[in-house]
Amino acid sequence: KEENKRYVKQFMKIKFIQGIYPPIVEIIAGVVIGGLIFYGGYRIVEGTLTPGGFFAFIIALIMAYEPIRKLGSTYNNIQQAVAVAERVKKILSIPDEYALKDGSLNLDSFIARIEFEDVHFSYPGREEKVLKGIDASFVSGKKYAIVGKTGSGKSTLVSLIPRFFDVTSGTLKVNNRDVRDYKLRPLRKRIGFVSQDIVLFRGTIRENIAIGKPDASMEEIIRAAKIAHIHDFIETLPEKYETLLGEGGIQLSGGQKQRIAIARAVLKNPDVLILDEATSALDSETEKAVQDAVDRIFKDKILIAIAHRLSTVLNSDEILFMEDGKIIARGSHRDLLAMSDRYKRLCELQFNESL
Ligand SMILES: Nc1ncnc2c1ncn2[C@@H]1O[C@H](COP(=O)(O)OP(=O)(O)O)[C@@H](O)[C@H]1O
Ligand SMILES: [Mg+2]
Repeated sequence: KEENKRYVKQFMKIKFIQGIYPPIVEIIAGVVIGGLIFYGGYRIVEGTLTPGGFFAFIIALIMAYEPIRKLGSTYNNIQQAVAVAERVKKILSIPDEYALKDGSLNLDSFIARIEFEDVHFSYPGREEKVLKGIDASFVSGKKYAIVGKTGSGKSTLVSLIPRFFDVTSGTLKVNNRDVRDYKLRPLRKRIGFVSQDIVLFRGTIRENIAIGKPDASMEEIIRAAKIAHIHDFIETLPEKYETLLGEGGIQLSGGQKQRIAIARAVLKNPDVLILDEATSALDSETEKAVQDAVDRIFKDKILIAIAHRLSTVLNSDEILFMEDGKIIARGSHRDLLAMSDRYKRLCELQFNESL
């Protein structure tokens, strides 16, 4: 409230000065020109000044008037720009706590193995631990599901793989090397990530799908869209793949957005595909179709799905059950049901299916 009051006061002051300045200048200018005409006229009558010389002087004076007047507002603009520049500089000089140190190793081989070794993690600038001693491994040729209540740390766990963040302690290894040793770009090229919050950009559907592989051919894009079961929908649009999305373009439903994001990830043809509740907005029939198509393509790769439905779980080779930043049980669905009452309860609650 105090700041606002101060701001209003300052603002009124500026407006007052801006309002009062031009009339004052005009009055002074009027008086000066009037005085000069009076004085000049007197000198001409006296015979010490020619009328030609006098008018030349007056016209020069009038021509100089506009630039002098502008000097005032220019000065104002410069003052404002200096103030703005200072603030921008302040923002630019804030140290980036999320900044990652790029590695030096070029990841030029297939990702066959990802390993978490006693990984602990807190978000930068936060006290509380989100991951508390994760040990897990993911190998190619297997499908994994992660289950757990909201807030148990599932999204955080997978976000460490493409290095959206680095571990606080412990090690995350890719192909038996610390993930921090690798250069970010080639690492991320090999990882597909469909996050819970999908970001589509202003641009055509084609551009949005091809964002991870800008040089993709139209055939490749269509193939990816077919796998994500969005091709048929795109074909019904008047401009098909050239339809504009985002501001000024068409609005998509949650399920359509998710399928565009899946097509985007599939097109990249990554070694590791991470699906963070990526099909949650699809009806179960479409979901099944997408799942089957994705499974087929990724059968020799690493597929990690954060599950929101039982079908994803049943479909996996191994399930990691998370609670409060820890993996409290792992195994097949059948193993887990036998092993853990908590797992059974979670399934019943979360998947809304009795077992
Ligand atoms: N960007 C973030 N900054 C700070 N805390 C976060 C951030 N993202 C998630 N968290 C916190 O981390 C915990 C785990 O969240 P998350 O990994 O998203 O869980 P899940 O995916 O299992 O629902 C939650 O307590 C959440 O509030
Ligand atoms: Mg999540």
